[in-house]
Amino acid sequence: MIGIFDSGYGGMTVLKPIMDLLPEYDYLYLGDNARAPYGNHSPENIQRFSEQAINFLFDKGIILIIFACNTASSTALRYIQKKYLNGNLEKNKKILGVLIPAVEKAVNTTKINRIGVVGTKATIASRVYEKEITKINKNIKVVGSACPLLVPFIEEGWHNKPEAKSILKKYLKPLKTNNIDTLILGCTHYPLMKNDFQKIMGNKVKIISSGEATAESLKDYLKRHPEIEKKITKNKKRQFITTDNPQRFKRFVEKHFGIKISTPEKITLN
Ligand code: DGL
Repeated sequence: MIGIFDSGYGGMTVLKPIMDLLPEYDYLYLGDNARAPYGNHSPENIQRFSEQAINFLFDKGIILIIFACNTASSTALRYIQKKYLNGNLEKNKKILGVLIPAVEKAVNTTKINRIGVVGTKATIASRVYEKEITKINKNIKVVGSACPLLVPFIEEGWHNKPEAKSILKKYLKPLKTNNIDTLILGCTHYPLMKNDFQKIMGNKVKIISSGEATAESLKDYLKRHPEIEKKITKNKKRQFITTDNPQRFKRFVEKHFGIKISTPEKITLN
């Protein structure tokens, strides 16, 4: 099984393109809905929550985990990788984030070396996107904008309302005035408003969703690592686990992602 970890529902924007591209594998999705949104928490809390989730998935025998959450990827992934994977404590296990695939795609996309990043408060405050982009090309200017109100709007199903669009316009203003040509949607939820991002930024701006970039990068990773690939079960099984209301989880996913899922199991992370 491949484990997909997110703070809540949003990681479905990552799981969906992964399932579309690699349908043969088994997937287990863990959403920590009880403590979402992660984006307004301190880095210490996000690291603790993520560590608990990783321990849970490792205990289930999962050897490959995708951190679908941008906030966890930018704030906790390095810490977890160092703690668990460097010292060979968890040999032959792997955790991949959504950040690097989106960064690489954006760097290859920009023609004028100007990239925008939108995300939660924690993601933008970490400046990890900027660090990773300038590691590849120090001439690229990166402009970040935190959009903290979008996640609650989307979770309420209010993202098609004019209020959501007018807030988005305000959030995107600094990116518009900085003339970027590539925009990374650095938050799981934002692809649900992708058309609005595109409309406000204009057709000349290429929008990069981390989910699609991650799916392509996972495919490539599995090809390059047959020792991991051969251990992943392939029965097209999809299992969902949440730390909050399973019915609410099922309703949200079915409504917004157009797929039928089994009712998730409810667990407590500690
Ligand atoms: N999953 C989070 C992210 O991608 C968004 C929701 C949250 O803040 O927990 O950053």
